[in-house]
Amino acid sequence: MQTQVKPYTESELGKKEQVTKMFDGIAHRYDFLNTLLTLGIDKTWRRRAISLLKLKDNDQKVLDIATGTADMPLEIYKQFKPLKIIGLDISTEMIALAHKKVERNELSGIIELEVGDSENLRFEDNSFDAVTVSFGVRNFGNLNKGLDEIYRVLKPGGKLMVLEFTKPKYFPFKQFFNFYFKHILPRIGAKSSKDPKAYKYLYESVQAFPDYERFLNELKKSGFKNLDFKSYTLGICAAYTAVK
Ligand SMILES: C[S@@+](CC[C@H](N)C(=O)[O-])C[C@H]1O[C@@H](n2cnc3c(N)ncnc32)[C@H](O)[C@@H]1O
Repeated sequence: MQTQVKPYTESELGKKEQVTKMFDGIAHRYDFLNTLLTLGIDKTWRRRAISLLKLKDNDQKVLDIATGTADMPLEIYKQFKPLKIIGLDISTEMIALAHKKVERNELSGIIELEVGDSENLRFEDNSFDAVTVSFGVRNFGNLNKGLDEIYRVLKPGGKLMVLEFTKPKYFPFKQFFNFYFKHILPRIGAKSSKDPKAYKYLYESVQAFPDYERFLNELKKSGFKNLDFKSYTLGICAAYTAVK
């Protein structure tokens, strides 16, 4: 059982409701802060992680969960050009921004966006050739429920790629990054997003999240096989891959 870290400790709301409220509130600064706080490396992480999917010509239907402002669907399209990509997110504000970005890229016919909850997907069993989640699983109200749902909607043989923050392990980068992540990043995030809790929650939720083999173990519980991960930028994040 994982410790449930929520953004607003004083709030009575459950984790899912708090996370939704938080992302609705910071949506307008989300892309800007991603670029600022990672010096733009987040784009490289997404690009490298998506390339691991190695989609084939007949892998035509992809679901991106916790799609945020649609960076993942746009990069998936760039690399593999599937016929249909659905981007789903629980935050209405994030989806509104995602719509604008997809329209600007003239991909509205291919990338569909919708508000939805990872733990209760509206899709039929065995619907997708691939599912991706980038920096999303850590925010699920119930991780195992979310992973079970992904397993259900993937076709047999379908691929999952999860990109998520990990905790760097080795001296001295571990100590340096931890100082930045715990003390500096939340201050910049608070100033720019006007939410003093959001980027503190980022640090705390990463500390509580099961990373590396522990996350592979959670995937295994849902039935996934061919489990693997690749670590990026000295262990700041990892791309996990699995097959149904
Ligand atoms: C850190 S952002 C990541 C956005 C995007 N994938 C990226 O790479 O930038 C996390 C996103 O997960 C969404 N989210 C959190 N819980 C969710 C859930 N239960 N179902 C769907 N989306 C969820 C949030 O609304 C937010 O947009």
